Parts: sequence; C-alpha cells; structure tokens
Amino acid sequence: APRVFSGIKPSGGLTLGNYLGAIKRFVEMADGEFETIYCVVDLHAITVWQDPAELTQATREVAAGYIASGIDPEKSILFNQAAVSGHAELAWIFNCVARVGWMNRMTQFKEKAGKNAEAVSLGLYAYPALMAADILLYHATHVPVGEDQKQHVELTRDIAAKFNHDYRTDFFPLTEPVIEGPAMRVMNLRDGTKKMSKSGESDMERINMLDDADTIAKKFRKARTDPAPIPGKVKELADRPEARNLVEIYAALSGTSAEAVLAEHEGAGWGAFKPALADLAVARLGPISDEMRRLLDDPAEIDRTLARGAERARQVAAPILAKTYEIVGLVRG
Ligand code: TYM
Repeated sequence: APRVFSGIKPSGGLTLGNYLGAIKRFVEMADGEFETIYCVVDLHAITVWQDPAELTQATREVAAGYIASGIDPEKSILFNQAAVSGHAELAWIFNCVARVGWMNRMTQFKEKAGKNAEAVSLGLYAYPALMAADILLYHATHVPVGEDQKQHVELTRDIAAKFNHDYRTDFFPLTEPVIEGPAMRVMNLRDGTKKMSKSGESDMERINMLDDADTIAKKFRKARTDPAPIPGKVKELADRPEARNLVEIYAALSGTSAEAVLAEHEGAGWGAFKPALADLAVARLGPISDEMRRLLDDPAEIDRTLARGAERARQVAAPILAKTYEIVGLVRG
C-alpha cells in the first residue's frame, strides 16, 4: 500500500488552519487505501525555544487533536518524534547530503528568521533536512500538508534524489506533496495576507481547536472584512483576501467548494454570513474539542498511546535506517 507520513509541531495550540489544512485530510487518508503514519514533531518545535512544561502539554494536545478528530491509533501509527531516535539519526545523514544553498532558498526560514538570521538556532536552518528524514525514514510516498509546507516536501524529493545519485542507488522514493481542498492556506482573521498560525501575536487572529463556542463566534464577528457583499464568482475574490478566506473556511467546514458557497450566499452581507460561519465552525469543532478535553484529562493514557505508536514506528524505521547506514558505508558492529 502507498504510505502516508505527516506531522504537526507542538509549538502552541492547534488551530483551525491545522485542522482544515492537515488533520481533516489525515483522517480521510487514514480511511482510504493508505498505510498512515502521523507524528507529533516535538524535535521540530524546539528549533525555537519552548518552555519545557508547555512543550509536554502541547505534545499531548496535538496527540489528543489527532485522536479526537478521528484518527484511530490502532489503525494509523501515531507517535511523537523524540521517541524514535531514527529521525535524528537520519537527519544527520541528510544534513550531509543537503546543500547550504538549498536551505538559503527556503521561504519559511527567511520569514521566520527575518532580519535576525545570524541569531536564530542552527536547528531552525537545518529544519527541512529533519523533515526529509521524518518522511524518508518510513519510505513514505505521500505527504498531506497545507500549502505552506509545499516547498519543504519538494526539498525532500531533492534530498532523496541527491542521496540516490551520490550513492548510486534508488533506495529513497521521491515523495509527493498532497495539497487538496478548498482551505489549504487558512489566513489570519485580522490580516488576510498572513497565514493563521499557532504562534501569531494576537489570539483574535486565529481559531484554536480548543476555543469554546462564544470565543469562536466573537472571533468571526470581529474578523476583518471589506464593505462589499459576497460576490457570485470565485475570481471576484481574487483581490479580497479576507473575504476569500472566510468563504474558503466555510467551504472546507461544510465539505463543499468555494463556488458552491458563493452560489448559496451571493449578495449577502458579512453581518449575515459571519454568524452562519461561526455556527458551522462550532458544529464541526465543538465535538472534537469536547473529546480533546476528555482525553487530556488522562495524560498518562495519551503517553501510553504514543509509546505504543513509537514502538510500531521503530519497527518500520529500523530496517530502513540500517540499510541507509550500510549504503553510506558506516560501520555499526
Ligand atoms: P505545522 O506544525 O506548522 O503545521 C501542521 C500542518 O498544518 C498545516 N497548516 C495549515 N494549513 C492551512 N492553513 C494554515 N493556516 C495552516 N497552518 C498550518 C501545515 O501545512 C501542516 O501540514 N514542518 C511542518 C511539520 C512537519 C512535517 C514533517 C509535515 C515536520 N515533519 C513531515 C509533513 C511531513 C510544520 O511545521 O507544520
């Protein structure tokens, strides 16, 4: 069966962007013909300093988010990255395959580092090589991600191709990013030109999966919009980023397309659309957040689930890692 790998960083609470851009797709793929491996990528989170207690809590929250959204940890392999040492081991080898020039072209690094590129961690710079290791440690062929991770998945292909070329092998598969759906780039509710992220400054700019109904309603009510009503055609949303974002969120939450949402709401004002959107979000996220809270009441059980997943992940990874060492010519006794 084709194998899926994807991951989410525990660098804060899960957002609606994580849900629509990633988790919702993860659930669909787990129910399909794929073998699915889903990871809480804690080693990626610490590329930026994390408070240790908050990191542990966020790791459990991401795990709870996966399970509460419908990922069955008996069927999919669900684990956290730090528990499987092969990620760090293969990342080192890929650090020696990837080129500095490739990392310099990563737009996410440039955005995160800003003007302060000399002062960020070396880990933040090398981050895409660790991500390639996550994927290739399992020979995953399909990687569902939001739009913002496309360049990193493409770099994974470049690393696999260069490894295969340098060592005259076809050992690593060339991975495909899977980016499908109406909301693969959910934007910030206060500024439609920026993506919604776990770590943005203001809580009003994002919907958290653990937000309660009143908070969700308030955030959508206060979301920035323009004065024009809802248009009839998707192309009329092109230069209206905030309007487009709310329409795409509505489409993704209701399982339709942006076209269908516009057909239904053409001519309506935001005063009518926003409460409908909030109701839809509460209907979709409410049961998930209730279940997340229930799971988070028993952190030891979450840790046990992750540990069982890690054991299964190690079994898939071990022969691939051993073969990689052999190909490179590293003696391991
Ligand atoms: P992270 O933790 O930032 O985000 C997790 C997933 O959620 C998607 N996503 C979004 N999708 C749409 N709109 C948004 N506003 C939005 N925000 C986040 C992301 O695209 C991602 O799919 N480097 C990755 C984690 C990672 C990974 C991997 C992913 C590490 N190793 C291997 C796939 C395969 C990251 O930081 O995602």
